[in-house]
Amino acid sequence: MTKTRVLTGITTSGTPHLGNYVGAIRPALRASADPTVESFYFLADYHALIKVAEPARVQRSTLEIAAAWLACGLDPQQAWFYRQSDIPEIPELTWLLACVAGKGILNRAHAYKAATDRNREAGEDEDAGVTAGLFMYPVLMAADILLFNAHKVPVGRDQVQHIEMARDFGQRFNHLYGEPAGKEYFTLPEAAIEAQVATLPGLDGRKMSKSYDNVIPLFAPREQLKKLIAGIVTDSRAPGEAKDADTSNVFQLYQAFASAEEAAQMREAFFAGIAWGEAKQRLFERIDLEVAPLRDRYEALVAHPERIEAQLRDGAQRLRAQYATPLLQQLREAVGLRDLSHAAVAVAKRDKAVAPAFKQYRENDGRFYFKFAAGERVLLQSVGFAAARDAGQLIARLKREGGALLHETETGVHAGESLVGHLHAGVELGEVVEALARLAEDA
Ligand code: TRP
Repeated sequence: MTKTRVLTGITTSGTPHLGNYVGAIRPALRASADPTVESFYFLADYHALIKVAEPARVQRSTLEIAAAWLACGLDPQQAWFYRQSDIPEIPELTWLLACVAGKGILNRAHAYKAATDRNREAGEDEDAGVTAGLFMYPVLMAADILLFNAHKVPVGRDQVQHIEMARDFGQRFNHLYGEPAGKEYFTLPEAAIEAQVATLPGLDGRKMSKSYDNVIPLFAPREQLKKLIAGIVTDSRAPGEAKDADTSNVFQLYQAFASAEEAAQMREAFFAGIAWGEAKQRLFERIDLEVAPLRDRYEALVAHPERIEAQLRDGAQRLRAQYATPLLQQLREAVGLRDLSHAAVAVAKRDKAVAPAFKQYRENDGRFYFKFAAGERVLLQSVGFAAARDAGQLIARLKREGGALLHETETGVHAGESLVGHLHAGVELGEVVEALARLAEDA
């Protein structure tokens, strides 16, 4: 049975917070308990370099996020657990994909577009301060996903566009290099948006995110956790006044940790006018109940970074052997990065490249043309047609009926009454007829 491959990465640019835990870590680990799922969790440290130019912070964040996954129950023998920069096949694949990715598609990527929009509004050069790394972000992400032929990628809505791009690049590659055998090198991934995973509000009520600076660190020490929770912004309703649970970030946070029953009780307490201080105290206790045992494990783990280092390396090594290295070998072969001792094969294939073919194109005059050529040697140049369809239909007839359709007069090559084109200098009609016959044979 092939398992469903589910893959997710976390950028190592900050400290893990409650939003990461509720939105990503906890659901991912629950999902990986499913025996029909093969899980891939990785630390996206190459992605971190796009945003962070502080080496110590990247290192610290990588350690903290790795320890957080392990503390929350990730078993590296059950799930693949690795660091992006330990897999050299990822940047290698990034380049292969960059060579099929449309630049126009990357221009439309949200993060890049937001940066250029901001610049334009500020009256600056639109690419001011924009690195090629930011521009290439979706290609690197596509490589993360396609290298392991992931079926599903659980992400937030803001990342859905990146999954679509990964599909696009994978499809282009399959199309360009999978011919003629129709080989599919890449599985096309799907975004899995977890509808029931609410985004957690931060201290100020906006989505908890390091970019808003409103986060509660997942493993803040008890006292700090208590203090941070006490500082959550609320409305100014007094003790005894009924409070609306549905619009309260204190309640939303509580709900993310509580059972349905506990949440119902809290809702009643809100209605009965619980004081904000009391509600926050209960929230603190409920979060701490779940997090305290994880925090202990986390602290034991970060005390031994060398063990985490060894686990990550081991994961990457096994993963490379099983997936990454063999796939890259195939891909290198596919694009022509080949062992030269097989060059004889390549020469034999060149004959095929010289096989005659029609090439259709459009000129600046708006008309549609085709050339009929054998490799570099152009045999016949068509006249211009008003519609692409007219050119296409003539080509189809020539393929079907061959050179018998054609005759030459002083004005050029005709099919029946109509002028269809001109022989290229030094070419005789016989060569065209013969090439059409060869084409029919090969088909
Ligand atoms: N871009 C993702 C984020 O910022 C992190 C990431 C990198 C990722 N590569 C990935 C997520 C591949 C899923 C799959 O959240």
